[in-house]
Amino acid sequence: MKSKPVMLKLGGSVITVKDKVLTPNTEAIDRLAGEIADSKVSHLVIVHGGGSYGHSIAAKYKIAEGFKGKHQLIGFSETHNAMVSLNKLIVESLIGKGLPALSIPPSSFIITKNGRIHDLPLDIMTHAISMGFIPVSYGDSVLDHDRGFAILSGDQLISVLAVKLGAEKVIVGVDVDGLYTSDPKTSPSAQLVEHATLEDLEKLVGGVSGSRAIDVTGGMRGKIFELTLPVMKGIEVLIVNALKPGNICRALSGKNVMGTRIVKG
Ligand code: IPE
Repeated sequence: MKSKPVMLKLGGSVITVKDKVLTPNTEAIDRLAGEIADSKVSHLVIVHGGGSYGHSIAAKYKIAEGFKGKHQLIGFSETHNAMVSLNKLIVESLIGKGLPALSIPPSSFIITKNGRIHDLPLDIMTHAISMGFIPVSYGDSVLDHDRGFAILSGDQLISVLAVKLGAEKVIVGVDVDGLYTSDPKTSPSAQLVEHATLEDLEKLVGGVSGSRAIDVTGGMRGKIFELTLPVMKGIEVLIVNALKPGNICRALSGKNVMGTRIVKG
């Protein structure tokens, strides 16, 4: 591939109403599609989260704990189907802005091993990117060699993809301004961390909040755990508030934006 792709994660708390089951945040989805179009970024890969489409169904059937009994099979199917519906909304919105978005469902090409990606066939993704498509993948219920099935978070997927594709940077759009020294939703003294190295992250992880709504993939702590992989490989990670209009466009265009920039050291 000629130029390095930019990776964009759209968090479930941004594109859905997290405490209302199967409710999209249509306004945010359409605005973000417009910002992505306005940024004119040339090589882009999008991965989105589950929010109220993924987590509650997955939690109800304990999909993240692996296969325990046949009653879970319908839950696995429902979880995947909900993610397909959410993905369709995102892809349709991008296409509506004239962007050649291409849905890439993880469960049809990834099998995890104990919940972790061990083999990631990249042919379709690299071919699509080099042709100018925008692959749009997501956190999904996937088959697993050891547990029968598992939940693959969008954060694990984007982190592994970023490394394998040799990405320029990873932009993570969430519903807060970045990482804080403590939980900004409960602690008034919480301070935004604008710049962090891997070493800083280790100290910070104790202070960051988990998600208050059900989150089967570990909330902010799980996010940081996954994002250390690209940072270790020298790929910068930028966490920004995607609910604030203009932030994702600025981040994609390489302009200055409020958030947390994580670098190797
Ligand atoms: C979760 O993906 C996918 C499912 C629960 C099926 P993520 O863990 O990336 O989702 P968000 O961004 O935290 O909602």
